Amino acid sequence: MENAILQLCYLIGSITFIMGLKMLSHPDTARKGNLVAAAGMTIAIFATIFLFEHDGQKLHNYGWIFGGLLFGTVVGTFVAKKVQMTSMPEMVSLFNGMGGACAMLISLVEYNKPEVKETGTMIVIALGMLIGTVSFAGSMIAWGKLNGSIKDRTIPGGQVINFIIFAGLIALVIMVVGGFMPEMHSLFYGILALAALYGILFVMPIGGADMPVVISLLNSFTGCAAAFGGFLYDNPVMLTGGILVGSAGTILTILMCKAMNRSLKNVLIGSFGGQKAGASGASKEQGNYKEISLNDTAVLMAYAQKVMIIPGYGLAVAQAQHTCHELEKVLNEKGVEVLYGIHPVAGRMPGHMNVLLAEADVPYEKLLEMEDANDQMASTNVVLILGANDVVNPAAKEDPASPIFGMPILEVERAEHVIVNKRSMKPGYAGIENELFFRPKTSMLFGDAKKVLQSLVQELKQV
Ligand code: TAP
Repeated sequence: MENAILQLCYLIGSITFIMGLKMLSHPDTARKGNLVAAAGMTIAIFATIFLFEHDGQKLHNYGWIFGGLLFGTVVGTFVAKKVQMTSMPEMVSLFNGMGGACAMLISLVEYNKPEVKETGTMIVIALGMLIGTVSFAGSMIAWGKLNGSIKDRTIPGGQVINFIIFAGLIALVIMVVGGFMPEMHSLFYGILALAALYGILFVMPIGGADMPVVISLLNSFTGCAAAFGGFLYDNPVMLTGGILVGSAGTILTILMCKAMNRSLKNVLIGSFGGQKAGASGASKEQGNYKEISLNDTAVLMAYAQKVMIIPGYGLAVAQAQHTCHELEKVLNEKGVEVLYGIHPVAGRMPGHMNVLLAEADVPYEKLLEMEDANDQMASTNVVLILGANDVVNPAAKEDPASPIFGMPILEVERAEHVIVNKRSMKPGYAGIENELFFRPKTSMLFGDAKKVLQSLVQELKQV
C-alpha cells in the first residue's frame, strides 16, 4: 500500500514537472508554472523521505536529511531573493553546479557499496561520475568567470590537451566498467580527477560572454547525470526530472546558437565574445556620426505616430526598465503608439528582455518578436534603441567577413528615424564596430540609459 502511494506521488511529481515546464513558456503563466513544478518536487521529496523502503528498511537519518533541507532552503531563498537580474546566469550556473555535484556524490556512494554490481549499474555509476563532475567543475568555473573572479584564459594547445584528457576518461570508464582491474579503485577516482580537470579546461578559454550557452550545455549535462541517478535508484521522478532538464538544456543550447547563427563548435572553440581585437569592422574607418539632443528627441517622439523601442543588454545594466515603461506611458498619453522589438538573443540570457520588461509591468502584447517587429518597421516613425548593439548591427546582413554575418537582426533602418542610446561608441558583446551608428538615418543620444530616459520623460512632459 505504502509503495502504491509512493509511486502515485512520483507520478504526480512527474506530471507537475511537465505541466510546470509548459507553463514556463509564457510570461503570464511562468510564475505559476514554477510553483506547480516546485510543489511536485516537494511531494516527491517528502514521499521519498517517509515512504521509500529499501530491503525492508526505511530512511532513518532524519537529522541529516532535515538539516540539509533546512540549510538548502534558507540559503536558496536568500540567494534567489537577493540576486540582481544581471547576475541571473551566475546564479543559474552555481545552482547547476550543485546538481552536478549531487550526481557525482551519488556515484561515489554507490560505487563504494559492498554489493556486487552488474555491468549496467557500473556503466550508470561511471557515466554519472564523469558527467556530474564535468558539470560541477565547469559550472564553478563559469560562475567564477561571470562574477569576474576568474579571467578568460587560453591555454596553448588547449584543444589537444582536452582531447587527450577526454580519450583518457573514456579509457578509464571502459576499464572500470569492464572490471579489467577490479582491485584498482584508484581507476574510479581517476575518473573523478580527470573529469574535474576536463570541466575546468573546457570552460576556461570560452569568452566570458559566451557563458550563457555553455551554462545551458552544462545544465543539460547535469540533467543527464541526474537521470542516471534515477536509473540507479529505480526512481521514476528523478529519471523524468533528469530527462526533462537534459532535453530542455539541449534544446535551449541549440536555440541560442541558432539565434546567434553560430555552431556549438564555434561557441566552444571560437573566441567570439572574447572581444576579439581586429575582428572584421573593428578597425574600419567609419566616418562621422551625429548626435541628437534630448529636446529634439522628445519633439521627434511626441509628434510620431508609432515608436518602436529596441531594448538590449545596456537597458538591463542601467536597470532602466521602469523608466522605460514610464516613457511608454507618457507617449501613450500623447496618442503615440509604442511597441517593443525583442531580439531573441538581446541581453545575456534567453528571454532576458521579456523578463526585464515584465518586471516593470510592460504589457506583454506590446512585446513583438523579431519577425513581427521587422514587419512593423516600415510604418514606424521613430526607433529608440536602448543599450542594444549587436542585435541591430547591419553587418550581420551585409558583411560576409563579419563574425556575426548571418545572424538575423532587427532591421531598424526600415523606420523613418533611428535614435541610439548608449554611453559611448564602444562595441557590444561581439566586440565589433556597428556601422548603423554612422548611417544617415541614425542619431546618437549618449548617456546612461536610466538617466537619459528620466530626462527624456521630463522633456516630453513639457512638449
Ligand atoms: P550588446 O551588443 O552587448 O550591446 C550592449 C550595449 O549596451 C553596449 O554597446 C553598451 O555600449 C551599451 N550599454 C551598456 N551599459 C549601458 C548603460 N548603462 N546605458 C546605456 N547603454 C549601455 O547587447 P545586445 O544588442 O543586447 O546583444 C546581445 C549580445 O549578447 C549578442 O551579441 C548576443 O549574441 C550575445 N549573447 C546573448 C545571449 C542571450 S541568450 N541573450 C547569450 C550569449 C550571448 P556603451 O558601453 O557604449 O554604453
